[in-house]
Amino acid sequence: MVSSVAPPGAGVALEENPVATLDWAALQQRVENCTRCPLHETRTRTVFGTGNRNADWLIIGEAPGRDEDREGEPFVGRAGKLLTEILFAAGYQREDVYIANILKCRPPNNRDPSPEEVACCHAYLERQIELIQPALILAVGRIAAHNLLHSDLQVGRLRGRVHRYGQRQIPLIVTYHPAYLLRSPLEKRKVWDDLQLAQETYRKYLAGITDNN
Ligand code: URA
Repeated sequence: MVSSVAPPGAGVALEENPVATLDWAALQQRVENCTRCPLHETRTRTVFGTGNRNADWLIIGEAPGRDEDREGEPFVGRAGKLLTEILFAAGYQREDVYIANILKCRPPNNRDPSPEEVACCHAYLERQIELIQPALILAVGRIAAHNLLHSDLQVGRLRGRVHRYGQRQIPLIVTYHPAYLLRSPLEKRKVWDDLQLAQETYRKYLAGITDNN
């Protein structure tokens, strides 16, 4: 009689390819099927990320809210519309950049992500960064800044300078979250300054490429 029992490890191996080895399609699929943390029980849709996968600018926010959870796309609610306007003011369309979040699933009632949820999701964002290889990361808001920089300083203390992210030492700039700007519109001026810093940093990156050739 032929046994239908698979040898130990068969099947699992295919499913468990490390996230760090996945291409875009496999990564997106892995996120869609993710059950690593309890947020999968309450999400409507995963929110993988959107935009140009060859972008030089990567925008990283916090986590999907109600609108994003429903639509499966980051920054589509009121805060998202403001982010789109901010990018436009800096000369970018949404489609020019890549937009992702620290978490791929919505925390109930938009509470802060827990450290465990961030840890479960981290490999996905890390792989996205590796595939995109952006020239610049813009961390929008406290949660993105704290988790990317492993810092608990206030956004006001982290903005205004160029940080470096990961092994590639990608320039990272922190700015306020658009949801905060909706509550405190007078802070928009500072976000404008942060975008000027981002543009200047990016120009230097481009000049470096030109200089080296
Ligand atoms: N806020 C975020 O940080 N990300 C989103 O996608 C939506 C709102």
